[in-house]
Amino acid sequence: MKIAVLGTGEVGHTLATKLASLGHEVVMGSRTADNPAAKEWAAANGASHGTFADAAADAEIVVNATGGLVSLAALTAAGAENLRGKVVVDVSNGLDFSDGFPPRIVTPDGVSVAEQLQRAFPETRVVKTLNTMNNAVMVDPSRVPGHHNVFLSGDEDAAKSAVRELLGSFGWGEDQILDLGDLTSARGVEQLVGLWVRLYGVLGTGDFNFAIVR
Ligand SMILES: NC(=O)c1ccc[n+]([C@@H]2O[C@H](COP(=O)([O-])OP(=O)(O)OC[C@H]3O[C@@H](n4cnc5c(N)ncnc54)[C@H](OP(=O)(O)O)[C@@H]3O)[C@@H](O)[C@H]2O)c1
Repeated sequence: MKIAVLGTGEVGHTLATKLASLGHEVVMGSRTADNPAAKEWAAANGASHGTFADAAADAEIVVNATGGLVSLAALTAAGAENLRGKVVVDVSNGLDFSDGFPPRIVTPDGVSVAEQLQRAFPETRVVKTLNTMNNAVMVDPSRVPGHHNVFLSGDEDAAKSAVRELLGSFGWGEDQILDLGDLTSARGVEQLVGLWVRLYGVLGTGDFNFAIVR
């Protein structure tokens, strides 16, 4: 598939590298067409890079791997016409480190980043997932032994099915993917990251995850 990864940070790199290794045609997007990190990544992976709009233009799926506080700006730069009808896989968290650690969790519009994006771009199909774990675990769940989960939130079943398939290709088993329902459930997973950050401080590693046991 043609996949745009919006974001040149660690998460964008990890997801773009995994997707390219799976044979997808990946374009990494950034604010400027000449972003050095994106250029270097594209050269190393035989892939492409460009502005957010360049990346989204021909993509079938768009991954939002930008900071949650700037995701609206990033998708606005990508352009509504380039996002129309497409699945937007939102892995962002609205973390505000301006007062240091621990970060404040910002929920735009009083709800969630995912809903903010869905409201701003009603013709996209936003699916929230993968934001509750470290990026290395996102693409290699076997880094964490035993049973653990990845969550899925979104208003449209077909869009969630497409994301399920991507998650499966990353190594997530069907029994690990927990569909939380419509996009309002993104509020829950975006708040969960506050606990994740504290656990990271306590455990000293990102190789852990949430497991739902009943
Ligand atoms: N670190 C993890 O393992 C982890 C785990 C789960 C979720 N997340 C979430 O994943 C997302 C990506 O995290 P990250 O650390 O890889 O990257 P990041 O530093 O949060 O974001 C980098 C991207 O944000 C863009 N950006 C910065 N300011 C902008 C602005 N004013 N307008 C538009 N775009 C702007 C940058 O554009 P340029 O390319 O032009 O510089 C860059 O592409 C975050 O929401 C984070 O909370 C991270």
